[in-house]
Amino acid sequence: MKIVKVRNKEELGKKAAELVTEKVYQLQKPILGLATGSTPETLYENLIRKYKDGKISFNHTTTFNLDEYVGIDKNDSNSYRYYMDHKLFNSIDIKQENTHIPDGLADNLEEECQYYERLIKEAGKIDLQVLGLGLNGHIGFNEPGTPFDKRTHVVELDQSTREANARFFNQMDDVPTQALTMGIGTIMEASEILLLVQGEKKAEILKEVMNGEITEEVPASILQRHPRVTLITDIDI
Ligand code: GLP
Repeated sequence: MKIVKVRNKEELGKKAAELVTEKVYQLQKPILGLATGSTPETLYENLIRKYKDGKISFNHTTTFNLDEYVGIDKNDSNSYRYYMDHKLFNSIDIKQENTHIPDGLADNLEEECQYYERLIKEAGKIDLQVLGLGLNGHIGFNEPGTPFDKRTHVVELDQSTREANARFFNQMDDVPTQALTMGIGTIMEASEILLLVQGEKKAEILKEVMNGEITEEVPASILQRHPRVTLITDIDI
């Protein structure tokens, strides 16, 4: 794993944007895997800046997001579709039809997961997958105990994950109990992974992810087996 040490969230965003830009430049039809949460916010701000400065175009880029809450409308400000539209897609030249996020309001969630997997397969391979890290070691919404070979699936969110994400909702009862997420099997097939981890509160779990046993109890520990991971972090490891 390649480690890029930064001082803060701003620098993390800048470095991450440089790597994403490089990838988008290199490829004719780049396919990016994207993440939500607080950590990638500065990445998206920097990508928008680069786009506005004429340094990058997303005209030929396709994206697949990691996850989406079940039961939240895409126009709800807590949906990950809303997050992506407002924090990135609406401010760059990506074609809306080339941006993909699982539909958490689909009538048949299982079918939606299979459909999402098909879309990724049809697109080819994810060239660069951006990942954040949950406090419990989750990636996407793959909670501890999720088998490493899972594809896109429906998950029951851990209470700790609901609590960690409650800050975005009016009250705890509004936080969804389920989500759709790319599986670890899907994530591990990306050609390259960009793991973003910021803030002292993640120091302990990051150490486990990097140096601990590879175990389904720490979902991100599987990244030790991926041949091309870059970690950008402000944590001393
Ligand atoms: C959420 C998302 C993850 C994200 C994680 C960390 O639950 N599903 O994809 O990486 O939490 O979020 P944050 O960056 O806000 O700490």
